[in-house]
Amino acid sequence: MNSKTLIQKRERISDSCYSFTLYAPDIAKKCEPGQIIHVDCGGDTFLRRPFGICEASRTEGTIRFCYEIRGKGTNLLSEMKEGEELDILGAFGNGFPAAKGRRILLVGGGIGIFPLLFCAESSPESCDTILAFRCCSKICLEEDFRKYCRNVYLCTDDGSAGYKGYAAQLLSELNIKKQYDVVYVCGPMKMMKTVAEVCIKANIECFVSLEERMGCGVGACLGCAFRTIMPDGSRGYKRVCVDGPVFNASEVDWSEI
Ligand SMILES: Cc1cc2nc3c(=O)[nH]c(=O)nc-3n(C[C@H](O)[C@H](O)[C@H](O)COP(=O)(O)OP(=O)(O)OC[C@H]3O[C@@H](n4cnc5c(N)ncnc54)[C@H](O)[C@@H]3O)c2cc1C
Ligand code: FES
Repeated sequence: MNSKTLIQKRERISDSCYSFTLYAPDIAKKCEPGQIIHVDCGGDTFLRRPFGICEASRTEGTIRFCYEIRGKGTNLLSEMKEGEELDILGAFGNGFPAAKGRRILLVGGGIGIFPLLFCAESSPESCDTILAFRCCSKICLEEDFRKYCRNVYLCTDDGSAGYKGYAAQLLSELNIKKQYDVVYVCGPMKMMKTVAEVCIKANIECFVSLEERMGCGVGACLGCAFRTIMPDGSRGYKRVCVDGPVFNASEVDWSEI
């Protein structure tokens, strides 16, 4: 679905991240946690940029996405103002499976926390979250997660806020087997790999939202392909843009990460 949307609200949420709330009723009506939008960042950026949907209000007809300034496209986005039009396509992809009645632990690292907020919004009262950042200046959306989650565990690599260490270390210290039925993860690949290993050891189902560089965004260029390994040992490839971005951690071939 192609929409010219209106930027209703623009906020700076950390030293390098921004939040946009867009009026996009058609997308808000249908989108699911974990799905993505493709954004035309303007200027001479030829390819659209993929971003996870962070929140959606079916009643207000709005969706929210948050982004970090990384390069040309996100730099251009950060200069846009409230009231301007933004061209987006979406929502695309397979999101996180519905986990009705199951106790969910969300584990987000850096900008990987953004799509997880939509999971928290959709499963209030049955979910806890670990938010992991490099240092305290990168912390964002903590209060937003507190609105929906029973427990929010903060951790930073340098100990400048919350638990000192990586998300997988904190995870090992929580009694996850007793407390949760399923874990949803989004963040850097190394972090997702270590979290998936802890979950597999504890025999807890784990879903990861993968991030690969995208070209076409519609399954044609194979730019976003990654290696898979199935329970019977067979190997293959899947595409993040159309087969994902969310996958069962057990089908990802983590050996090269
Ligand atoms: C499924 C998915 C969900 C994402 N969700 C978010 C989100 O919610 N918030 C957020 O801040 N970022 C998210 N990203 C990363 C975001 O797409 C990149 O940071 C952004 O495309 C960088 O664009 P740029 O023009 O600033 O950087 P440039 O490096 O100038 O981009 C050049 C090209 O590389 C592609 N590219 C660059 N980095 C990435 C990357 N990490 N992943 C995919 N394509 C990339 C761009 O799409 C573009 O075609 C997501 C990526 C994927 C694949
Ligand atoms: S981005 Fe082209 S196949 Fe996924």
